[in-house]
Amino acid sequence: MQSELVCFNSACGARYAISDVLYNCTKCGGLLEARYDFGKPDVAALKRKWRERRMSNAPLDQSGVWRYRELFPFVENDGDIVTLREGNTPLLSGPRAASYGGLDHITFKHQGFNPTGSFKDNGMTGGVAQARRLAMRRVACVSTGNTSASMAAYASAGGLEPLIFIPHGNISYGKLAQALEYGARTFQVEANFDQILALVRVLAERLGIYLLNSINPFRIEGQKSIVIEMMDQCDWRVPDWIVLPGGNLGNVSAFGKGLREMRELGFIDRLPRLAVVQAEGASPFYEYMRERGRQAFRPHEHPETLATAIKIGDPVSWPKAQFEVETSGGAVERVSEQEIADAKAIIGACGIGCEPASAATLAGIRKLTAAGAIASDADVVGVLTGNVLKDPDYVYRYHTGQLKSPDGCQINANFGNQPIVVPNDANRISELIR
Ligand code: F0G
Repeated sequence: MQSELVCFNSACGARYAISDVLYNCTKCGGLLEARYDFGKPDVAALKRKWRERRMSNAPLDQSGVWRYRELFPFVENDGDIVTLREGNTPLLSGPRAASYGGLDHITFKHQGFNPTGSFKDNGMTGGVAQARRLAMRRVACVSTGNTSASMAAYASAGGLEPLIFIPHGNISYGKLAQALEYGARTFQVEANFDQILALVRVLAERLGIYLLNSINPFRIEGQKSIVIEMMDQCDWRVPDWIVLPGGNLGNVSAFGKGLREMRELGFIDRLPRLAVVQAEGASPFYEYMRERGRQAFRPHEHPETLATAIKIGDPVSWPKAQFEVETSGGAVERVSEQEIADAKAIIGACGIGCEPASAATLAGIRKLTAAGAIASDADVVGVLTGNVLKDPDYVYRYHTGQLKSPDGCQINANFGNQPIVVPNDANRISELIR
């Protein structure tokens, strides 16, 4: 099957070989995406085949990404693929979260169940396959945490050398720990995510290192599998809304592309609406879309949020994100630190749990239902992008009333759950429990 890289800017549309090492169009600087000549696939037969693969013991069939490989056929040789059995993440219902979000019912797609704890694994297995196909030796990324943990794991598993660049003092210890444990050379740079991305692009060019940030089109191809698996799990019934947090805006770009391709090929009969939720202190996409794109995109120079995963002021994929939100008739919302923290505790109290950035999903849903943008009886899938254990310090501080927003404001423990210090005394403890 023919695959190529195409400039996303439709006014340009420049085309490149799928094996060119490129992250932007060399003609106009636009974003690139992989395109395929899918022909006319037998949709019913493929849906059956994907179900059958769940019973298989073959590594690629067990992967919740590569099981759907017919929809991102850029790999020539399966031997290039490194799988840690990523994807396979559950759909979960959370009645308490639904009522908090103003909904009759909610479904969470929990990407925190991935091998390194976030949705980045879905994309990283794609990016690393391409790195190996291109015979790259070193791979690099800047990260707010999850990308680095994921890249470290997949690169090391695939015999590549991972080089990680993170904002010094601004990612959670859980994520830094993973990068170190998975054997990545880790550079803590005294700059923010956006500044380090510019730096890493210079280094990648100068030293011939393959860049695995979400500007890499093959990361996006892997992340398409999140919505493909979601539709498979929904028996191909399309929800009304899919809601997810937005940082660098790669994930919403991947979701939109995957959904459009599934509709064009006849796997689904309509598009769900995509809603992106940003943290107030890092919400340039929200501001841009609120003006309906009438003003130029204005990055936040000093993004601030405790949801460090989405602490990004200059998201590279905003043109793709704009297209996907508009094409799906979607929405963009922003939420405060207090709203994120409370929503997170509610998701935790459902027995589900997630990291702060993920909780922006539920906080955003609550605002969108209150504003009437999402109806209370809508079929909504909220995407939880990362695992609750990413940021235990945040969790402890919230529940003990010690959490402060970046500008020093106290965050109220509205749904706090204080641990109780007790003497080693059965009578006293019995009294307390009664
Ligand atoms: N949620 C989590 C848990 C994330 O780690 C990220 C991004 C996002 C949401 C936002 O996704 O960038 O595709 O809009 N984390 C990055 C990282 C950028 O370096 O791990 P996006």
